[in-house]
Amino acid sequence: MVAYDPAALREQFPFFIHHPDCIHLDNAATTQRLASVVDRLVQFYYKENSNVHRSAHAQGESATLAYELARGTVAEYLNARHVEEIIFTSGTTDSLNTVASGLDEQIRSGDEILITALEHHSNILPWKALADRRGAKLYISGLTPIGELDMVDFTRKLSTRTKIVAVAHVSNVLGTINPIENIVQLARSVGALTVVDGAQWLSAGPIDVQSLGCDFYAFSAHKIFGPMGVGVLYGRKEIIEKLSPFRLGGGMVQKVTAEEVIYRGPPDRFEGGTPHVAGVVTLPGVIEFLKSIDWAKYRVHEYEIRSIVEKSVYKIPGLRLIGTAAEKVGIYAFAHQTIHAHDLASLLACQNICVRAGNHCAQLLLPYFQISQSMRVSFTLYNTIDEASALMEAIAKCIRQIG
Ligand code: ALA
Repeated sequence: MVAYDPAALREQFPFFIHHPDCIHLDNAATTQRLASVVDRLVQFYYKENSNVHRSAHAQGESATLAYELARGTVAEYLNARHVEEIIFTSGTTDSLNTVASGLDEQIRSGDEILITALEHHSNILPWKALADRRGAKLYISGLTPIGELDMVDFTRKLSTRTKIVAVAHVSNVLGTINPIENIVQLARSVGALTVVDGAQWLSAGPIDVQSLGCDFYAFSAHKIFGPMGVGVLYGRKEIIEKLSPFRLGGGMVQKVTAEEVIYRGPPDRFEGGTPHVAGVVTLPGVIEFLKSIDWAKYRVHEYEIRSIVEKSVYKIPGLRLIGTAAEKVGIYAFAHQTIHAHDLASLLACQNICVRAGNHCAQLLLPYFQISQSMRVSFTLYNTIDEASALMEAIAKCIRQIG
């Protein structure tokens, strides 16, 4: 078997030509861009630039064609049943806000919304605001000491009053892969809608929304090697037909009079205003790249990185790895007894190692680990085993120097 080769993949990313010595381990914040994506963006703006769904001229038609082709490619990659189930947004945050605002009229006082303590703020705040607006109750399912979802607590908090279950596929801080198949099944058994934040998953594996059976699945292009400012919301047809539009404006309406407004059907209803056409048309290239990945081999590679991280961390005095779930992607959060996460991140930056420090917009999980911040390292498809070893040596060196 030919081993997984991240170094070969790297050649497709111009960032590494400009920063050959950079160890980029901040991929959960944003991945690097594929050359093909940047080329496609430039080509669109140079040669094809036009708005979509509005103009009868040739450029307008070809932009519309490319935009709708991208929708078809995304639908096929996610195995959506209908192409109209794919809504283009500006990112995961926008996708999740679209759902939460769109469900406003369907939520009543006394209804319950269940989220988890692993969520990113973008999968907390829209639900908190919805609950506050409608007099509903927001419940937060807890975590186990190793950073997995506490499924006993989850089941206890789920009831026939639960109208929405919103959960991350993967934690952006701990890397925990949540048992979303099980969660979706449990939620459906009480009649709740299921919303999955897939922002941190799609760079680590494919998704089949039909076999998962979720009602909504959200993600961002910039976390899967595509452009910033483009997101996807998958929404099950029967559900989005009843979802109210969130962004009102041009392109999403059929009839407007002073007395009456008739909205278009999905997906147009949710794409008011000029979309990020140049970004959307790069998506077929992104998907072609994702399809070229041998995920089984990548899992082995991820596991090798995990062993290096876990074996080294115990040898570094005062350093703790936060979250050691059985199933996780290459995201690792560290906390040191005395050294602040920001200091550690700055010292690593001096050695050309890019990581992130802070609460990572996931403050609900902090009390579970008695921390107020952590230093997060996030590997992705182009990171090598050598980079994992170099990272752990650099952390050990920084701590020796200032510890
Ligand atoms: N959501 C991104 C992160 O986790 C920005 O860093």
